Amino acid sequence: MMRLCRTREEMRLAVKGWRAEGAFIGLVPTMGALHDGHMEIVRRARAGCERVVVSVFVNPTQFGPGEDFAVYPRDPDRDLAMLNAAGVDGVFLPEVAEIHRPGAETVVEVPRLSRMLMGRLRPGHFRGVATVVAKLFNIVRPDRAYFGEKDYQQLAVIRRMVEDLDFGIEIAGVPTIREPDGLAMSSRNARLAPEDRAAAPVIHRALAEAARHARAGWTVARLRAWVRDSIASNPRADVRAVDIRDAATLAPIRGAPSAPAVVLVAVRFGDVLLIDQQVIDPPDPESP
Ligand code: PAF
Repeated sequence: MMRLCRTREEMRLAVKGWRAEGAFIGLVPTMGALHDGHMEIVRRARAGCERVVVSVFVNPTQFGPGEDFAVYPRDPDRDLAMLNAAGVDGVFLPEVAEIHRPGAETVVEVPRLSRMLMGRLRPGHFRGVATVVAKLFNIVRPDRAYFGEKDYQQLAVIRRMVEDLDFGIEIAGVPTIREPDGLAMSSRNARLAPEDRAAAPVIHRALAEAARHARAGWTVARLRAWVRDSIASNPRADVRAVDIRDAATLAPIRGAPSAPAVVLVAVRFGDVLLIDQQVIDPPDPESP
C-alpha cells in the first residue's frame, strides 16, 4: 500500500521502516502535474529499487519574481492516483510551510554551473533547486535519486552538489520522453495556447537536425546560429537562449566539437518558457 506522507516526520518514519528491512531506496523528486515523462522516471526507479519514494512539491524558492509559481499546474489527486497505479511505496507531499520554515537561512550554491546558461535567464533558480533537493535528500536519505535529462543543467548542478557535499547518493539521469511530434514532455506544455502547442515541435526538429550537422563537422558557432534561426523562423517562437557546451562539464567549446557536446535551448511561446536539449556526437574520425 502506498504511504502518503505530508510531514518530514511521517516521511522519515516510513523510510526508517524500509531501511530496517534492508531495502534499497529510490527517490524521484517532482513538482507534480505528472505526465508520461515523470512516469517513465518512476518506472525506472520501480525497476531499479526495492522501495520508491516520489516527492511532489512545487518549490517556491526556485521561481523568480514574475515567474509562473502561482500558475504552475497542480493536480495532487490525479498525481496520487497515477503514483498509486505505478506501485510507488511512498509519496512525500508537504505544504510549503513544512519545507521552508521561518528563520531558515542556509542555502546550497553551486556557483559556476548555476550562473551560466539558464541561470542567466533565471537568477537564483538553481540555488533554489539545489537547496530544496538537498533538503529532500536529507529527509528521505535515498540510495539513488532519479532526474530527467531534459533539465540537463539541473542534473549537472545536482551531480556536482552530491559530489562536493559527499551526499553518498547515486544520481541517475533518465532520457527525455517526447510527444509523438517530438515536443519534450513537460508540465508546462499544458499551459501552451493551442497555436503555440502546434508550433513548439520546431524546437526538437531543429535540435535533431543540428545533431546531423554536428556529425558533418560544423563548428559550434555555425550550429548555434543555425539552431537559433531555424527555431526563430517560426513567428510564435521567442528564442531566449541557444548554447552549445561540453556535454560532461558544460564548459564552452571553440571550433567543431571533438567530444560529445550538448545543445541547450530555451524558447518562449506566449508566457511559457520551454527548455530542451540534445546531446550531439562529434564527427567520427574513422568515417570517410
Ligand atoms: O525538476 C523539477 O521538477 C524540480 O526542479 C525539482 C528537482 C523537483 C526540485 O524542485
